[in-house]
This record gives sequence, C-alpha cells and structure tokens, in this order.
Amino acid sequence: MSELFTTPEHVLQGGYHHATLRKLQEPNTSIETHNIMYPVFLLEDENAMQPVLSMPNVYRYGIKNLIPALKELVDKGLKSILIFGIVETLEKDSVGSSADCASNPVIKALPLLRSAFPGLILACDVCLCPYTSHGHCGVLNEQGVIDHAPSVKRIAEVALAYAKAGAHIVAPSDMMDNRIKAIKDALVANKLQNQVSLLSYSCKFASNMYGPFRDTMKSSPMAGDRKCYQLPPGSTGLAARAAARDVAEGADFLMVKPGLPYLDIVRRTKDAYPNHPLFIYQVSGEYAMISRSGEGEMEAILMETLLCMRRAGADCIITYFAPLILDLIKKQ
Ligand code: PBG
Ligand code: ZN
Repeated sequence: MSELFTTPEHVLQGGYHHATLRKLQEPNTSIETHNIMYPVFLLEDENAMQPVLSMPNVYRYGIKNLIPALKELVDKGLKSILIFGIVETLEKDSVGSSADCASNPVIKALPLLRSAFPGLILACDVCLCPYTSHGHCGVLNEQGVIDHAPSVKRIAEVALAYAKAGAHIVAPSDMMDNRIKAIKDALVANKLQNQVSLLSYSCKFASNMYGPFRDTMKSSPMAGDRKCYQLPPGSTGLAARAAARDVAEGADFLMVKPGLPYLDIVRRTKDAYPNHPLFIYQVSGEYAMISRSGEGEMEAILMETLLCMRRAGADCIITYFAPLILDLIKKQ
C-alpha cells in the first residue's frame, strides 16, 4: 500500500469505477422522460409552421402541424408539454382580452390535444404579455405602473379559462403577488382543484436570457422593463420569500427560472420545500448558448447540464432540447 493512502475512507474511486455503481452514487439525478417538459409555441393559423430564427430546431406551429410533430415525440416517450399561445390577427388590448377568448389558439387546441394524446400532460403558460398592447405581464394604471388588483383578477380568469378548456396544469409566469391564491380559489370555486395543478413560476428572475423567447412570442414590453415584478438576479432573499409566498398561497409545484446561473437558488428552494416538486425553466438564452457549442460536444454538455440541475434539486426541467433528450435517453 502506498504511503499516500493510509486512510481507507479516503479511497473513493473504488466506489464508482463502473457505470452501474455510478448510478448508485447519484440516486436522484437520472434523466427519465418524466423529468422533461417541452415548451411549444402555438400559432393562431392552424396550417402554419415557422422556424424560430434565434433558436435552431425550434418551430412555431399551428395546431394541424403541432399534432403530427408531437405524435412523433409522444411515441418516443414525451410526457408533458408547456403551451405558449401566439396571436397574429387577434387584437392585443390593454387587458389581454385575446388570452382567453373563444378563438384563442390555446383554448381551441386544448380539447384537440386532449383527445389526440390522452396520456400527455398539458401545461399552459398563463400570462398577459403575449396578448397586451403594452406587452407587460399585468394590467397597467394611468401612470403606466402595474395595477395589482385588476392584474391578479385578470390572470386568474385566464388560468381558469385554460383549466376549463382542458389544461392539466396552469403555470402563471407573470410574477404578480397573490396570483397563486386567486387562481387556486378560482379552481376550487369551479370544482377543478382536484383535476388541475398550479405550477408557479415562483422564483423567476429579471434575466437577460429571455431574448430569443421574446422575439418568438413578440412579447417584449413596449416601454420599460419587468424589473418591478420579476426578481433581481442577485437576490436570494426575495427568491426565498417568493417561494414561501407561493407555497402559502397553494402552489402545487415551484419553479426557478432561468436554470444554470441560478442553481444555488434551486438548491435553497429544494431544501426549504423538499415536498414540493421543483421545476427549472432552461430558458431560450440558455438554449441558444448550449446550441452554439461544438458539434461533437453539444450533446455531452447538454446532458451534464441536466444532470447538474437534477443534482441541485430539480425534479423536472422545462427545455427546448426535449426532442434531442428523448433520443439520447433511448440511446443510453
Ligand atoms: C412571459 C414568459 C417569458 C418566458 C416564459 N414566459 C419571458 C419573460 O418573462 O419576459 C421566458 C422563456 C424563455 O426565455 O425561454 N411571462
Ligand atoms: Zn408575461
């Protein structure tokens, strides 16, 4: 025995020299199909299909093209999607009326998706920004500042409309205080609380990594920014309080967004709320960055990133890479 290894407890490598043994060392970090949620962009025009220029291999679909595209992924094991509606002909107004009107693409698609894919979890992003003329996530007062009460009321109405149309999960991304309670109350009042879950974008930061998404959704604010409702990137305190608020208000699941630069927040949130499934949104800017890595390295970098997100405490990762990940899971 070499002089260096006098203490047997310091000989670690005996424990992970084989792939099967390594699995035992990371019990909560496996990437299975239920750990992945795929965001999809849904256009009003049923027959449309448009590539997203800032995001390679990402498309915006009309429902007639979305269903065959999803069919292929569901056959490969896809378990859940997160739907974002995009309006092009419906009018954007100050309160986002087209978010929940009968001709909203999400409202129309939900029953079709339910019947086409009976086993697929349908989550709906709930926000006003894709539908408001000013592009903010709530309703504004005369001074152009978020008007809290009408914003929360409106967001709860939209969430309830998606729930009634067939969503399994409603996911408010607006970051207004108290919208979780308002949505939960609306679900209870409509006897939907045992059929629809509430996924809160609880720890959503005012990040610079949402650029490609905002281009895709045409949802940038016309004036100002979102720093008065999304969290300051350096704040751990507000993130903890936002998670506490949303747990107290009845969130079923929590989220940290973006993912990679915020894994400390993921770990803290998981430690504080070990009994609430925790989601990470690997956002459009993260997607763009990883997509740009070298040919031979991209897949390995992606899988390492997902592994580290799981290690930090994420139970499910919302990612535009879902189609590729399904293939990589198959190959394993
Ligand atoms: C809108 C919303 C955003 C994202 C999800 N929902 C953008 C924002 O808040 O500006 C970001 C998603 C991404 O970048 O992939 N409330
Ligand atoms: Zn928004």
